[in-house]
Amino acid sequence: MLNILCVAGARPNFMKIAPLMEEFHAHSEICPKLVHTGQHYDEKMSDLFFRELGIPAPDIQLGVGSASHAVQTAEIMKAFEPVCLELQPHSVLVVGDVNSTIACGLVAVKLGIRLIHVEAGLRSGDRTMPEEINRVLTDAISDVLFCTEPSGVANLIAEGVHRPKIHLVGNVMIDTLLKHRDKAEKSPILDDMHLTPKEFATMTLHRPSNVDDPVVFAGLLDAMEVIQNDMPIVFPIHPRTRKNMDKWGWNERVETMKGLRLVEPIGYLDFLKLNANAFVVLTDSGGLQEETTALKVPCITLRENTERPVTCEVGSNQLTSVNPASILTAYQRIKDGEFPEPAIPDLWDGKAAKRIAQILAESS
Ligand code: UD1
Repeated sequence: MLNILCVAGARPNFMKIAPLMEEFHAHSEICPKLVHTGQHYDEKMSDLFFRELGIPAPDIQLGVGSASHAVQTAEIMKAFEPVCLELQPHSVLVVGDVNSTIACGLVAVKLGIRLIHVEAGLRSGDRTMPEEINRVLTDAISDVLFCTEPSGVANLIAEGVHRPKIHLVGNVMIDTLLKHRDKAEKSPILDDMHLTPKEFATMTLHRPSNVDDPVVFAGLLDAMEVIQNDMPIVFPIHPRTRKNMDKWGWNERVETMKGLRLVEPIGYLDFLKLNANAFVVLTDSGGLQEETTALKVPCITLRENTERPVTCEVGSNQLTSVNPASILTAYQRIKDGEFPEPAIPDLWDGKAAKRIAQILAESS
């Protein structure tokens, strides 16, 4: 029996862990247990996702919460080590690139427990991103590495990872999207918000390099001011972003932008319905670049780089940097119909978790 401790901590982890828990439970050779580190803890950042995605309640809650990077990472490690010592799992599985990923990964390898990383090998090349550090370090200590796209495999090989440890399996986040697509279509959010399909944009902003820097953030708002005069922008606001706007006293300026619809963080199904029906998505998120690719909706990525180059290669994603003029040029290009039908990356077919479970079951 393969006892696997599966770790999730922050919002983007939940849609990745959901299909894995489902597949593992369906395999007689695998016995999964779910650990929630508590990195995200608000109802709308965590519990709502468990309910909507049908993720079983975590077996273990570490309840760590927010803190500086060092404190948060250390607290997760301190709380996770006794769990591993007590349960003696055969493997620990971590997903993505958040602080919970590296914290639990480090605990596992130091105890000699096999470490499995799902979404391995992605690289932005930008070491000022906390997630890039988490990615590089987690991959360096992992024993089994599952990749979503060919660039991940190439990056790992270039870093000297032994080829047999690497498996290109597709994208578990897209498993979740495809599974919930029909259910999401039934969400009443478009009517509730008086939105017409393909006549509005959605936007998310939470990356520290964008929202902790008032100069960069102000430039992004300048671009949004122009776009919201043309079509409504739905902007579910992340707690980090909200806190900064409050701190800088920006709410008044934003309130003058009548087309910019600031709302609380939105659940998975409502947000999927919004994004599937959006004319364009503007984002600095990683996962949304992939979700828009699967939905064939144009995405403008408000960053200098991406760790998910396949989304640009297939044509759904444009990297604009945070320069307002570049953002508006990209927007205009899409308005002018310069958006070729994008392809779906190989293996983004809803079966990534199945492949992972099969590979792990065979290794038990
Ligand atoms: C984290 C991840 C990031 C991921 C993002 C998705 C790291 C290094 N970063 O960033 O990769 O894209 O999650 O959201 O792991 N807060 C709340 N309620 C919550 C959670 C957070 O109010 O439920 C507030 C806290 O003030 C906290 C701040 O948001 O200090 C930032 O949270 P944190 O988990 O540190 O980082 P994120 O910016 O969410």
